[in-house]
Amino acid sequence: MVTIPFIKNNLLSIDIGFRNIKIVEVEVGKGNEIFIKNFGIASTPKDSIKNGAIKDVRAVTSEIKRVMKDINVKAKNAKIVMSGTNIISRVFMVENIPGENLDDTVKMTISQSMPIDLDAHKIDYKILKEVKDEGVPKVKVFVTAVLKSIIKSYIDILVELGLKPISVDIPANSAAKFFNRDIATSESDTWFKKNKYGKLDQSTFAVLDFGSETTIVNILKDRVLEFNKVILRGSSNLDDAIVGNTDKKVAEAERLKKIQGLILPELNVSEEQELIYKSMIGVIDDIVRQIFQCFEFYEKRCFGEKIGKVYIIGGGSQLLGLRDYLETVLQVPVYTVGLLSIEGIKINSGLDVERLNYLINSVGITL
Ligand SMILES: Nc1ncnc2c1ncn2[C@@H]1O[C@H](COP(=O)(O)OP(=O)(O)OP(=O)(O)O)[C@@H](O)[C@H]1O
Ligand SMILES: [Mg+2]
Repeated sequence: MVTIPFIKNNLLSIDIGFRNIKIVEVEVGKGNEIFIKNFGIASTPKDSIKNGAIKDVRAVTSEIKRVMKDINVKAKNAKIVMSGTNIISRVFMVENIPGENLDDTVKMTISQSMPIDLDAHKIDYKILKEVKDEGVPKVKVFVTAVLKSIIKSYIDILVELGLKPISVDIPANSAAKFFNRDIATSESDTWFKKNKYGKLDQSTFAVLDFGSETTIVNILKDRVLEFNKVILRGSSNLDDAIVGNTDKKVAEAERLKKIQGLILPELNVSEEQELIYKSMIGVIDDIVRQIFQCFEFYEKRCFGEKIGKVYIIGGGSQLLGLRDYLETVLQVPVYTVGLLSIEGIKINSGLDVERLNYLINSVGITL
């Protein structure tokens, strides 16, 4: 094969969420720097995803096609991020028996400890670190398993679109790739000024993806993914809670959620504002409780360290007041992330910067 120098690789990246499909066309440079040429956000057709698999390939592809045409996509190669539900992940300590093949031992542990059909799943594992447990050499492994039939439904989408499938990834991997780069944050200083916690060890951190139907908890240590769990509650549950407590329709509830956020005016709070606040905070607290459980589980059961900071991504992370609220309850600095603050990512001028926050996962897998 002849390689032509300086040719840039065009790549299309598609992140399929319950609510929005995020489509990004990038150029990947020689040094792996990314140029975002264009992007578009499509509405996910209702009921087209079931248990993590694409059920209505036709509806999903026609929606993607429309957006691809809109933004004039040229790329032929594509990567896709699947919906977060129905991905199984675990952390194991596996004894590294001298003279035995570690790969075999890990596979044996998986078959004994994970209650899944091994033939029907695609299983990946990563060795995180080697330790000595009372003199016994062990390795810490991170395992993910996804049904092959689910993966196929995503490949079907790319094939149907006439694209060449390069990879199907889970959201945790795309977030991990993204957060592997240097990120400039702005709010950190204010947090450290406000809270005299001294030096916090931030080498272990969480990335929380607030989606519409799900909230994904990722924990990374030294930028390597060590824990992942999908909480089956998300920003749409806020809308539902408002609908349940007021006479609002769901679209109106979502609009009010975005306007009011978790912030109540100091004076003259109306009864309605208070009702909306109470509806939302109930759901948020339930999600926070489950996030907290994940942190505890990671620290105690996955041999992890304390979480030193949190990044929030996903459409739901834009909820007004959420960042401050999370800092108060989780007692660690919480950062929102913009694409503009990442090393090695350039963005076509003229793109709508406001909506770039949706793109962390789709950009992540291109890295
Ligand atoms: N400014 C805002 N304030 C609060 N919520 C917002 C705001 N903007 C968008 N959202 C919410 O974000 C959600 C959509 O986010 P996103 O596109 O990340 O979800 P998704 O990826 O489709 O869902 P999932 O990850 O669960 O599959 C919607 O519920 C929407 O109401
Ligand atoms: Mg999502």
